[in-house]
Amino acid sequence: MKIAIPKERRSGERRVAASAETVKKLVALGAQVEVETGAGLAADMPDQVFIDAGATIASHEGAVWHDADMILKVQRPLDDEMALMKKGAVLVAMLQPLQQRDQVKAYAAGGLTAFAMELMPRITRAQSMDVLSSQSNLAGYKAVLDGVQNFGRAMPMMMTPAGTIAPARVFIMGVGVAGLQAIATARRLGAVVTATDVRPATKEQVESLGAKFIGVDDEESRASQTAGGYAKEMSAAYKAKQAVLIAEHIKKQDMVITTALIPGRPAPVLVTEDMVRSMKPGSVIVDLAVEAGGNCPLSRAGEVVDFHGVKLVGYTNVPGRVPVDASNLYAKNLWNFLSPHWDKEAKTFKFKWEDETVAGTCVARDGAVVHPLLKEGA
Ligand code: NAI
Repeated sequence: MKIAIPKERRSGERRVAASAETVKKLVALGAQVEVETGAGLAADMPDQVFIDAGATIASHEGAVWHDADMILKVQRPLDDEMALMKKGAVLVAMLQPLQQRDQVKAYAAGGLTAFAMELMPRITRAQSMDVLSSQSNLAGYKAVLDGVQNFGRAMPMMMTPAGTIAPARVFIMGVGVAGLQAIATARRLGAVVTATDVRPATKEQVESLGAKFIGVDDEESRASQTAGGYAKEMSAAYKAKQAVLIAEHIKKQDMVITTALIPGRPAPVLVTEDMVRSMKPGSVIVDLAVEAGGNCPLSRAGEVVDFHGVKLVGYTNVPGRVPVDASNLYAKNLWNFLSPHWDKEAKTFKFKWEDETVAGTCVARDGAVVHPLLKEGA
């Protein structure tokens, strides 16, 4: 069984889908692991790291893909990479299946078995396989640092002979995995932190991190969480109440980090143009939802926009800005997902198709699109 780790070619991608630890574990199972030369360089993993772990190195793109039985990637393949995969190969990556439905059809047509890691069900057993969590956690951390870098002031209170510096006020909007880490990071830097979310369960989490919760408390918010732990789209009436509360609060903030997402839908607009106008010059907004349309209509993907002195930071692929840790955790997620399916005798993976983690992530198999979310009409 040959497992290939290609170099990621999408622009700005610095992560890699393997680490020394996971290569060692895969080789110990009895798999042959081949890494494309330079695949780990941007994540501080030169070829030698993988050689020492037991992998071989492929000299170019074609060499690593063409005879691989399984391909582990971070991002979905490019069109020319699709052509390099052999029929029957297994592809495991963040495939963005809901946004890239035609590509999922192409995996099926090409006879691939494809797993989209971002569809991992949110069950306790799958926490160690959850790529959205491992990557969002780092994004939440990095978002605060990106905010700080664009902020002309210090974060903590400082009492100096020349005068006292007031602590920065940081407001986190959306308290999922990224938001919680952003709260913790901003607190460590000494900021005064507040946070909001539609899911009432987050209030206690916010308070346990030493931040203050700002939120609408009504019937609708008490039922705002799906069984899977995600937020629902809220009504116009709720959004109006939320907007009034936020508008008052945001005026007094120095930094706003927005992380609000609704799976499969555009990100909700939480910070309007009027709210941005009400903020002091020098304030910073970091929009982590920019790739899903943005929580603020003024933020632009890949840019830092200056609007009346307020900086809107819209960096894309934020986990990829912490490439070493993001790669290590992602690679470990893949290992945790795949390893229970290794068949010792056959020395290959034999997936248990009824397993929730397999059924939940498999998007194409046996020439067909198989995921319920992707079937025609879904
Ligand atoms: P996400 O990335 O989909 O969304 C981020 C946050 O934005 C969520 O907290 C959501 O409630 C919030 N949001 C959405 N619309 C909003 C609005 N209009 N205003 C304010 N906030 C809004 O969510 P994420 O980070 O993936 O986690 C969601 C939940 O899933 C969390 O409770 C987390 O603890 C849980 N989870 C469970 C896992 C497991 O059991 N395996 C693994 C990972 C997360």
